[in-house]
Amino acid sequence: MTGSENASKFLWGAASSAFQVEGHPHAGGRGRSKWDVYTHDYRITEAVVGVQHDADVAINAYDRAQSLADIAIMRDAGLDAYRFSISWPRIFPEGVGTVNSAGVDHYSRFVDDLLAAGIKPLATLYHWDLPWPLHEKGGWHNRDVAGWFSDYASTVFRALGDRVDTFVTINEPQIDLFMMDLIAAKVHDGAADPWAWSSADIAGQAPAMHNLLRANAAAVAAYRSLGLPGMIGIALPLYPTIPLNPARAEDVAAARLLDGLMNRWPLDAVFLGSYPDDVIAALQKHNLSFVPPAADLAAIAAAPVDFLGVNYYSPAIVEFDDRFPLDLRWGNAETNPDPVKAFNGPVRPDELRKLLLRIRDDYGNPPTFVTENGAGFGDFDEVMEPGTVRDPLRTDYILRHAAATVAARDEGADVRGYMCWSLFDNFEWIQGYTRRFGMVHVDFTTQKRTLKQSFRAYRDMIARTRGG
Ligand code: FCB
Repeated sequence: MTGSENASKFLWGAASSAFQVEGHPHAGGRGRSKWDVYTHDYRITEAVVGVQHDADVAINAYDRAQSLADIAIMRDAGLDAYRFSISWPRIFPEGVGTVNSAGVDHYSRFVDDLLAAGIKPLATLYHWDLPWPLHEKGGWHNRDVAGWFSDYASTVFRALGDRVDTFVTINEPQIDLFMMDLIAAKVHDGAADPWAWSSADIAGQAPAMHNLLRANAAAVAAYRSLGLPGMIGIALPLYPTIPLNPARAEDVAAARLLDGLMNRWPLDAVFLGSYPDDVIAALQKHNLSFVPPAADLAAIAAAPVDFLGVNYYSPAIVEFDDRFPLDLRWGNAETNPDPVKAFNGPVRPDELRKLLLRIRDDYGNPPTFVTENGAGFGDFDEVMEPGTVRDPLRTDYILRHAAATVAARDEGADVRGYMCWSLFDNFEWIQGYTRRFGMVHVDFTTQKRTLKQSFRAYRDMIARTRGG
């Protein structure tokens, strides 16, 4: 960190999402989300990892007493900020229609509890828990979703916008649409391999991605029209792509295409108001009807975001392989050169630094937060000891990525904060409770919290950057 003035502005925090932590699926009149259906009805974790899990208890974060105890842990860590998400089906049980005041009250109280502890709330409006009635109407494939989402967003802005000044519209559109929804559809259809997607499957999701970007723009426009003083942005899962063999032109082209799909498409949309031609052409080969209307692009261009949330875990190593969708194979598990492999791919803090500098250079140096970054490795890096849990690999990962973030900032990238994923172990989507990402261990049976080595290291690092 350069200079104490800068250091005091930088936000150190942690991130979470409603479905992964809250539990209490019926409390306060909450409706069902697509993830309630994926977990219970489709039994998605059983299909993917062989054990049936749901998020009905998760880590009990909806409970006020639990939540206050958890906020005390945030204070102990010295967090400046906490990124959480609001459950759309708690605010609108049917997705649209009558506002459920119990849901609004819940988040209003939570925001007050954070503020009382001196922790800045960063609220995400959509972290994958789409109300099921909307999913049944086509969800992100239905063009009306832009209006549904901006109505929901406006309700939240009016309720919380006086105390929350940093809103994230949508978390990781590409993972929600091109991975989770495809896996869910395959599981629902009884496919032998839920990961076996065709080019047509990927291209078939392109209109949903387009509607999601329209919805993002509609929510940004709604926020502006309310004249609130804060900032609104989007959290994108950015994966710098690396060709498996840089001397092989096909691998270089495959890496370029994946970079387009994962990174340039949403970045160009939210900052430049355009879509990259190579990506649209590649998708159109498999979905001729995908032609984004010019009027939609004009609406997207008219509502750029105020800041970018970067969710970064690893780069993507890519090779050309015509047995895979769009002829590209993102085979991190097989090609990851690390001797000990993290769940989410190669451990490369240098790529995070480069990515932040690329955003500085290619997108006009917008205000940026690392809205997610963290790691899990497996039980060997979760060693229970009396009063603590030893997780040296996660500790090393977090410290090196936090340092890479600060390095990019020192090189002029307008990075304003770093949110670790995650403070607590929680429900890890298709992997259920089999993957831990927390700096605080959670016993999923008793709900007991135990601080890990990484928690202490993160706390010490925060104190050091403040000169404490
Ligand atoms: C990200 C998700 C987050 C969590 C981490 C490990 O892709 O946004 O909810 O699952 O991965």
